[in-house]
Amino acid sequence: MCSPEHFTVEYAINPWMDVTTPVDAGLAVKQWDRLRETLVALGHEVHLLTPEAGLPDMVYAANGAFVVDGTVYGARFKHEQRAAEAAAHRAFYEEHGWRFIAPSETNEGEGDFAYLPEAHGGLILAGYGFRTEPAAHAEAQEALGRPVVSLHLVDPRFYHLDVALASIDDENVVYYPGAFSAASQKVLAQLFPDAIVADDEDALAFGLNLVSDGLNVVLNNEATRLAGKLKAAGYHPVPVELAELKKGGGSVKCCIAELRH
Ligand code: ARG
Repeated sequence: MCSPEHFTVEYAINPWMDVTTPVDAGLAVKQWDRLRETLVALGHEVHLLTPEAGLPDMVYAANGAFVVDGTVYGARFKHEQRAAEAAAHRAFYEEHGWRFIAPSETNEGEGDFAYLPEAHGGLILAGYGFRTEPAAHAEAQEALGRPVVSLHLVDPRFYHLDVALASIDDENVVYYPGAFSAASQKVLAQLFPDAIVADDEDALAFGLNLVSDGLNVVLNNEATRLAGKLKAAGYHPVPVELAELKKGGGSVKCCIAELRH
């Protein structure tokens, strides 16, 4: 995770960002800190990346890389405003002894990649349409040695895979069908017959931008119906408030890069 100390909305690269909306960086830090404390209280270890002035989106740490089985596939940001973030993530992984593979293709890390270790023997889901290029899906498959299923994102409000779909355990997902092309919806229905499906309102409340450890599902507190569906399915929803970071177009998952040994 990376503190939103320098968080602002000074450019707009997704439909949620509005440069005229004031941002309360102090409140953003407070809300982000509560998310960090929530993860720690659930027994997770949280490493911190040092935020850098001039990189206001650095708080969305999920975009900096994608890690599977101890191998890190690095990010290459689409927009130049975020390009410099990739080096900070790379330095973190290299300093901590991870095997790092530098990308040639445009991709925004876990923003557009999800991993399900027990689905169909170990499956990577990858989004394209707004940020990550399909060529990066092939590159990730070669780097990580897991099959990658490409999914076409078609609604600009859901510009990253992780605002439209999340893994809720090692083999199942929750997603919002409307974010995907008709063919990709068919693929998801075939791969995940038991998936939990979210409605428009929960999706637009960033409900899908969640992090799950297989039991506890940390999600945006406005996604109340989704929390109910998760509970009914046997999960333990843990709502958190992240209203300030929503102004940049992200929530829980965007703030967390998962380290998979
Ligand atoms: N403002 C950031 C961007 O548009 C938000 C990134 C959100 N992160 C995510 N994993 N979806 O790039």
